[in-house]
Amino acid sequence: MKKLTFLLLCAALSLLSVTTQAQKFEHLAQTPPMGWNSWNKFACDGINEKVIKEVADAMSSNGMQAVGYQYIVIDDCWQVGRDSAGNIQYDAGKFPHGIKALADYIHSKGLKFGIYTCAGTKTCAGRPASRGYEFQDARQYAAWGVDYLKEDWCNTSTQNAQESYTLMRDALYKAGRPIVFSLCEWGANKPWHWAQDVGHLWRTTGDIGNFWEFGEAWDGRSGGGGVLNILDLQNGLEQYAGPGHWNDPDMLEVGNGALTPEEERSHFSLWCMLAAPLMAGNDLRNMSPVTRSILTNKDVVALDQDPLGKQCYRKSMENNLEVLIKPLSGGDTAICLLNRGEDPKKLSFSWSQYGVTGRFSIHNIWDARDQGTTDMPYTATIGRHQVILLRLKKL
Ligand code: GLA
Repeated sequence: MKKLTFLLLCAALSLLSVTTQAQKFEHLAQTPPMGWNSWNKFACDGINEKVIKEVADAMSSNGMQAVGYQYIVIDDCWQVGRDSAGNIQYDAGKFPHGIKALADYIHSKGLKFGIYTCAGTKTCAGRPASRGYEFQDARQYAAWGVDYLKEDWCNTSTQNAQESYTLMRDALYKAGRPIVFSLCEWGANKPWHWAQDVGHLWRTTGDIGNFWEFGEAWDGRSGGGGVLNILDLQNGLEQYAGPGHWNDPDMLEVGNGALTPEEERSHFSLWCMLAAPLMAGNDLRNMSPVTRSILTNKDVVALDQDPLGKQCYRKSMENNLEVLIKPLSGGDTAICLLNRGEDPKKLSFSWSQYGVTGRFSIHNIWDARDQGTTDMPYTATIGRHQVILLRLKKL
């Protein structure tokens, strides 16, 4: 009898340890997170409470919130030090009412609040980071009402990436507030192989630059790059993305002034094909009607947010014409034809050429018009750096 009680006790204890074991928060980011991040436009010096609140106001009034954008994320440079108890200190000059009040304001708009840290000893901008303070910082984020944490990888010396990010994952879990966890180690340690149980998204490359493409001298291995360079680095990673765990090709440069309207449309289309997190990186308070119409095109966003959660794959790439295919729920398929070249291209192809079998109706998303069915060959002209984005609807 004594033995039975002992065994039951052991079983109960092991059950308890299983149920309290740290894990990532499940059921978050079932579709790629959508929001805004301060870095691409405001970098270190440009952030403050006023800007962040105005950006939140803009997101809720300009149609972005209505199509699904929700996270407002402050990137590097909000932190200035630690107090004698080790608590992270925000820059009170820039955030006079504090981070909690800012999070409350953002929440009052029905939006969510994100913040940034780094797994090393200092952030990439040299601010205090989380190494050795993971649990304390996670408790602080939870107390402030943080919903999304981006953790960077600067100043990590010989740290092991998987261990470091798992430690923060466990700290967040212990703090008890569901927080989307965004890993930002630039793909250096191939997080697609191990981060599925650690975070909800992971950067796959170095930083995006505000341009279309680097010159030929760039070897593509060392960092991020322009839109096309980053696109190329996603090729083959499609098998690792799915609901709750996404490849992150970095934040958007749509609306930051360097890309032509056609390139902005292509950049946005490609990120949606990639089932990428859609973090706008421009000044939402001041954007052109074109930029706004791109960021809020709900039929394009619907490709990104498709519940099946499949990232596109490269079907072909010939003579600067790239064809990407993204399976969608309900048997639909998205096709993106991208003209990477400098001259317009005339196209004429039969659907079987791209492996499309079965019958579909064709909807041209940017032109907002139907274009017959896949029974007929498809003919079109694509301008330089432009896409044709089609939704094939199952008949
Ligand atoms: C790294 C990240 C960027 C940004 C900066 C901030 O470069 O990859 O996205 O967070 O740090 O310093």
